[in-house]
Amino acid sequence: MGYKNDFSKEEVKDKIINLLLSTGREGMSNLINHMDKNGFFSAPCSGGNHLAKEGGLAEHSLNVYNIANDTSISIMGFDDVCKFGDSIIISALLHDLGKIGQFDKPLYVDNILKSGKRSDAKPYAQSTDLLKVDHEVVSVVEASRFIQLTEEEQFAILYHNGLYAGLGRSLNGNETPLQILIHFADMWASRVVEGEGESNE
Ligand SMILES: [Fe+2]
Ligand SMILES: [Fe+2]
Repeated sequence: MGYKNDFSKEEVKDKIINLLLSTGREGMSNLINHMDKNGFFSAPCSGGNHLAKEGGLAEHSLNVYNIANDTSISIMGFDDVCKFGDSIIISALLHDLGKIGQFDKPLYVDNILKSGKRSDAKPYAQSTDLLKVDHEVVSVVEASRFIQLTEEEQFAILYHNGLYAGLGRSLNGNETPLQILIHFADMWASRVVEGEGESNE
């Protein structure tokens, strides 16, 4: 439903890079190089749920940005849209950055069955080489190695799963407009546009 795009992987990559660079945030080029080297533009978005395919993570991130940006134009005044502009780009495009993994280890690896064949139903599995840290936490940690997130951006990325994640207990009553916007856009992207449930698996 809506927002499905026919962009090639290269077009998705170009759009994401241009949007991130448009913020002018110091350190952004280094962050983009890190993302590129560590598979952001080729990684899947999940093991067997939404966009469990090569390039799925980048496609999902762009979907979340487009939905958040369009929604902000509908529900915020012009001044607020301008005020939030860069933060919408940064929090939407980097909310799932942690899904590329950490410490030079990818989060998603091929899911090889006991038979030796790769699973069709769940082509990727989370690597057992990484200690289990929620991807929203890794997103904040990894982005912060290269750029300075604002307090609002850090909050929006950390709580992008809303009340659906363990962290959600601390969110109740402390929501912010940017966090709600990114949470909504993420849900709409993963559950409506991309068709299947968001999953941390
Ligand atoms: Fe996520
Ligand atoms: Fe997401």
